[in-house]
Amino acid sequence: MDFLEIEGGHKLFGEITISGAKNAALPVISATLLCNGTTQLKNLPHVVDIRTLLKLLQMLGANVEYSNESATIDCSSIKSTKAVYEIVSQMRASILVLGPLLTRFGECEVSLPGGCAIGQRPIDLHLKALEAMGAKIEIKGGYVRAEAPKGGLRGAKIVFDKITVGGTENTLMAASMANGVTEIINAAREPEIVQLCQMLQSGGVEIEGVGTSRIKVHGSGGKPLCFENPIEIIPDRIEAGTYLCAAAITKSDITLKSVNIEHIQSTIDKLEDMGCHFQISDNSISIHSPEELKEVNIVTAEYPGFPTDMQAQFMAVATLARDESLIEERLFENRFMHVSELNRLGADIWLKGNTAAIRPVKKLYGADVMATDLRASSALVLAALAAEGTTKIRRIYHLDRGYDNLEGKLSSLGAVITRGKE
Ligand code: EPZ
Repeated sequence: MDFLEIEGGHKLFGEITISGAKNAALPVISATLLCNGTTQLKNLPHVVDIRTLLKLLQMLGANVEYSNESATIDCSSIKSTKAVYEIVSQMRASILVLGPLLTRFGECEVSLPGGCAIGQRPIDLHLKALEAMGAKIEIKGGYVRAEAPKGGLRGAKIVFDKITVGGTENTLMAASMANGVTEIINAAREPEIVQLCQMLQSGGVEIEGVGTSRIKVHGSGGKPLCFENPIEIIPDRIEAGTYLCAAAITKSDITLKSVNIEHIQSTIDKLEDMGCHFQISDNSISIHSPEELKEVNIVTAEYPGFPTDMQAQFMAVATLARDESLIEERLFENRFMHVSELNRLGADIWLKGNTAAIRPVKKLYGADVMATDLRASSALVLAALAAEGTTKIRRIYHLDRGYDNLEGKLSSLGAVITRGKE
């Protein structure tokens, strides 16, 4: 198993380019199943989750060519509509093939994804939406078995009682080939949803309310979509935010290229509260970090609020602020696995329910720690960059799922970081 060793205490400098967004690429790859032909994708990040989903599509019969940041996916040759446990258990986002498979082929079986480190993460809202569109759904043997009515899914009015990114994505894809109009109320508004809507629009689907919480999809009535132009994945807002936090915690000045500033506004705002300054031009951003960071108060929320995917990284930064910070996690019930590991590095974090109080410490000290989930792992990397001495982070396969060339990018900024095997 791979581990990372980080010698802390080095300032960062220079510039790096942000990769395509994993969480935008996953629904986009799933949506290629709606096309009875070839779709070209660009700016895919080099991360394990992308390779896992491409492998799933290949297992279903798609022809996939993947090199550098591009992929060509031909879904005219799909032979199977069963997404098996072996793949779905590796990555929850595989559930995103449910909507497109069902709407295009009229039936499918997808393994239940199960819980994960950050919480229970049910898919009840995905299933309710598909049922509202006429699907018959049965859970048997660990699989969701879904069948569309004769003639295909029917447009419906779907009201999500909780905002769900994946649920909105599955519904959008299912609705794109349904008969009639589907209205999604209380839809997620994340940039990744907007990208998916724009892709569906480019495939010939009429969609109203893109980027709002009320989206209307005029289904194609069973006609497969056709994506003639390449789909370019948007920049990863969480990767960008993570590197801005890396600069803040090491009191450094760095520049990020290929960033969508609007997508990272809430992260910029919180770093400004902590005393950081920014210079912004088009799609690049430079951060200037203060010698002493101010405390910060954060409550996670759906976009455009403060992202839960940046909560762990800010917690790491807040450990070295001048006063106590408070972070409340509102989206997931168990997304504080990094707390005990950060405390191993010398942090003083106290948890009560879904709120963490981060009491400031003068220094963090290198230690052996364990990565527990993707963003928790990146928080450990940030803390290690600022700690005195060397930190060894085990189980970094979590990081490889979502950060493109993490140690290469950090090394190019002057960090002392190496990967080893044990
Ligand atoms: C997406 O997960 C992201 N994953 C997550 O990124 C991110 O943390 C999350 O959205 C919230 O922003 C991808 O895009 C692949 P949700 P998703 O459905 O779609 C509950 C990362 O580190 N819920 O919006 O699974 C759920 O339990 C990750 O990159 C139901 O109750 O999140 C959670 O409490 C991890 N029933 C809340 O809603 C459902 O049917 C939001 O979940 C669905 C969700």
